[in-house]
Amino acid sequence: MLLANVLPVVALAATTVLADGKAITAAMATIKADTVQLGASVSSLAGDLLDVLTVLPIAGESLGLLADIKKGAEVADKSAPLTQDEALGLASVTVDLAAQVNKTLEILIAAKPKFDGLLVVSPIIFLNLEAQREATTDFGNKVVAKVPKDLQAIAKGLMQPIDDGFNEVIAAYQIKLL
Ligand SMILES: *[C@@H]1O[C@H](CO)[C@@H](O)[C@H](O)[C@H]1NC(C)=O
Repeated sequence: MLLANVLPVVALAATTVLADGKAITAAMATIKADTVQLGASVSSLAGDLLDVLTVLPIAGESLGLLADIKKGAEVADKSAPLTQDEALGLASVTVDLAAQVNKTLEILIAAKPKFDGLLVVSPIIFLNLEAQREATTDFGNKVVAKVPKDLQAIAKGLMQPIDDGFNEVIAAYQIKLL
């Protein structure tokens, strides 16, 4: 009787913890998919024919990415502490995400001259990037907080290139005030 009562609770606890690692992984997969899509959209812009209407969907995708990063932070915040295995599983997902973020941010840096002709577009992208950097830092901190203590420094290290990338792209889009 006692065992019968305890077992389901243990099983439930195990599933819950597993589900949290999975939920954070799923959030990262969504963020990655958004990032891939944004990079593809920016790449596909034909240089000379840009007008605001052509670029509008990109602003929408960029805002969608921001929303998904914020959702990810919420998921991480609500997550139970991750097990060692979950944290290690998340490491490869993070490396993968960082590689994609790098690609998309490089595409954005390369596309900056295309956007400059459309006066309002670069500042909009700039503001979005700042908001995304802030949301990403928040997401990263919340994930790291759930990683076992002895793996936290490694987790931070894996996320650092994403932060560096944001700094790079934001510097490129920064309005130079003389
Ligand atoms: C992308 O990665 C390369 C190689 O590590 C690095 O030199 C570059 O600064 C990164 N760019 C961005 C925007 O993160």
